[in-house]
Amino acid sequence: MSFNLFDAEEKTLEQAEILRAGLTDQPESIRTGINDLVDAFSRSVREQRRLVRVSDRLQAQLATVNQELARRRAEAETALGDLQAAQDSLIQSEKLASLGALVGGIAHEINTPVGIALSCASHLADSTAGLRKLFEADNIGIEDFERYLATATDTTTLILSNCERAAALIRSFKQVAVDRASSERRRFDLGDYVRETLASLGPHLRQAGHTVKVECPAGLILDSYPGALSQVLSNFVMNSLIHGFDSGQTGTLSILIDQPTPQWVRLIYADNGKGVPESDLSRIFDPFFTTRRGSGGSGLGLHIVYNLVTGPLGGSVSVEKAANGRGVAFTVTLPLSSEI
Ligand SMILES: Nc1ncnc2c1ncn2[C@@H]1O[C@H](COP(=O)(O)OP(=O)(O)OP(=O)(O)O)[C@@H](O)[C@H]1O
Ligand SMILES: [Mg+2]
Repeated sequence: MSFNLFDAEEKTLEQAEILRAGLTDQPESIRTGINDLVDAFSRSVREQRRLVRVSDRLQAQLATVNQELARRRAEAETALGDLQAAQDSLIQSEKLASLGALVGGIAHEINTPVGIALSCASHLADSTAGLRKLFEADNIGIEDFERYLATATDTTTLILSNCERAAALIRSFKQVAVDRASSERRRFDLGDYVRETLASLGPHLRQAGHTVKVECPAGLILDSYPGALSQVLSNFVMNSLIHGFDSGQTGTLSILIDQPTPQWVRLIYADNGKGVPESDLSRIFDPFFTTRRGSGGSGLGLHIVYNLVTGPLGGSVSVEKAANGRGVAFTVTLPLSSEI
């Protein structure tokens, strides 16, 4: 049953009409007055009906808008979900790609020393077979023997040095796969630990004659993996010694530690050496990026640093653009407890 909003008004109007009809014997002025009143009242009722219709229409429109909003919101939520899924799979494929690059790189890097060792060994085997033939034919001369000795000395030296290089590469590859379980987790005083690590690098530092500065608030306790931290610092320091300064040139290495928020510490490692060209900055954490290929660099040091800081230490690391074109600065941010 539809409810008539204007029931009361209609009844009043009906009564007014009855009243008007019964006024025939009244004076003209009263009849006109009542007529005007009845007309005004019926106009007002018409106007009210119109307003109610407008309001109904508005309500209907509002409901449509609400529905549309709910639909768009659902669409946005789906899109966000899709985006998150895409992001996850991107991270996954990025990881796979970098793993692929790493494996490819390992094969490439190991290939050179192993290849050299192999060809030296086969050369040595050929020479030995030749010498044996001469010996069995009882035709060996002193010059043959001297030549063989020279070949044997050269090839074994090359075999040894290349096998050592391959072994060193394998050692550093092993460090790339950061093994959380193998390193011990404990509480330690950050400032003390940084100084101990530097002391263990003392011989290298003293030899080069650099000045080392450490600033750390006293009593800053970290619950983390000290072994990983010391590996990070060693890589920074060795890089400064190897890449930052020419031999004979001295400089300053500094480690400044502060605590920007209650749960996080910031460690800024810097040297005032040659620095890294801006074009290389974005690549220095990549595996195998080195400017010293062929003279001992494998380009894994900073990649290991990156894995250790973002892995077991639970923090982040970035390299800064040198403010005055001098030296390098790395910022490492670490949580006080590596599992927050
Ligand atoms: N303190 C520094 N001063 C100047 N250049 C640096 C410094 N630290 C790193 N670099 C640059 O970054 C590159 C990458 O460093 P990274 O430690 O990853 O490899 P590497 O030292 O060349 O080899 P590895 O550490 O495996 O022996 C270096 O080859 C060098 O060009
Ligand atoms: Mg290095």
